[in-house]
Amino acid sequence: MVEIKNISKSFQQKDGVIKALDDVNLSISKGDIVGIIGTSGAGKSTLIRCLNLLEKPDEGEIIINGNDLTKLDARDLQNERKKIGMIFQHINLFSSKTVYENIALPLRFAGESRHEIKRKVLDLLDLVGLKDKANEYPSSLSGGQKQRVAIARSLVTEPYFLLCDEATSALDPINTNSILQLLGEINQKLGLTILLITHEMDVVKSICNQIAIIEKGKIISHGSLDEIYDESQKNESINSLLHSNSLNMPLEFTRKIKNEFTEGLHPLLEIQLNGNVKFEAILKLLLNTFKIPHTILKADVEYFGKANFGQILIQLKGNVTENDSLIHYLSSNNVNHSIKGYA
Ligand SMILES: Nc1ncnc2c1ncn2[C@@H]1O[C@H](COP(=O)(O)OP(=O)(O)OP(=O)(O)O)[C@@H](O)[C@H]1O
Ligand SMILES: [Mg+2]
Repeated sequence: MVEIKNISKSFQQKDGVIKALDDVNLSISKGDIVGIIGTSGAGKSTLIRCLNLLEKPDEGEIIINGNDLTKLDARDLQNERKKIGMIFQHINLFSSKTVYENIALPLRFAGESRHEIKRKVLDLLDLVGLKDKANEYPSSLSGGQKQRVAIARSLVTEPYFLLCDEATSALDPINTNSILQLLGEINQKLGLTILLITHEMDVVKSICNQIAIIEKGKIISHGSLDEIYDESQKNESINSLLHSNSLNMPLEFTRKIKNEFTEGLHPLLEIQLNGNVKFEAILKLLLNTFKIPHTILKADVEYFGKANFGQILIQLKGNVTENDSLIHYLSSNNVNHSIKGYA
């Protein structure tokens, strides 16, 4: 339904030209939820902005339902754009207008009748769960509620396509979840195709059925969660994108942690789960194979298709020989690990 063909886009910067998108190709089917992941500066926002021609690509075609957006004149493009909704991390609501009026605004511009506007706005308020907030002003809403208003406003023109650029980045985990759930519901109920940019693998895992990985302006991989997982086993840069960062040391340990081993201290071992190594397998090693007394200080495990990624921080409380035998085993089996100190 959406074909991105050979899109390139360069920007002039102080110290030269930067190719933000370099011959990008991507097909998106109706009803897909596509997660776009990549490091900062990879070109994610530029791709999304090119999709609705907020940014005009230097080369290539963007074909939506058979129309190449790059070939349309200003008026036709404006009409096509109405069918592409967009939400951002920064939510721009009109603070002097009520929730109802904020959502109604695009319809007023389009000259729709009062009756039609009322019907559509009330339906959408219901869909996003804000029926009782119709007459409130944005200043009295939470971040999550404001994003719901922005979503309703983006849907009011009945788009077939919703672009989300880090729409949940500014929200706390509870609001993030409820917004994601809402996007999932909208996808189901309205058959809306969604493209979303995020840094959080949890977000991708919970609602996306397709992933595109972008690196230095190129799509380096595209497919289902399972397909991307398989790719990550062969490709180090995809693998590292799927990892989250190192765990923070618990505060009580940061105070007393030592860099050198001293009698009576226990090593703090961090193990990286990278899809090959499963959380359960590490527990089995500790409990059954090596039988080492230990405390799991922290664990952050993300389930991703059939694999899991993340880190575990363990304080090993065995004697020196027991601890060393486990660490030796991890090294000889290529399990990514490091000693963060002793405490
Ligand atoms: N309007 C612009 N003018 C000049 N350079 C730009 C412009 N927009 C983007 N760039 C450059 O293009 C590259 C891609 O930027 P883009 O915003 O698409 O990255 P991103 O993947 O969205 O990053 P982030 O995760 O930090 O939001 C960057 O090097 C950026 O500096
Ligand atoms: Mg961006």
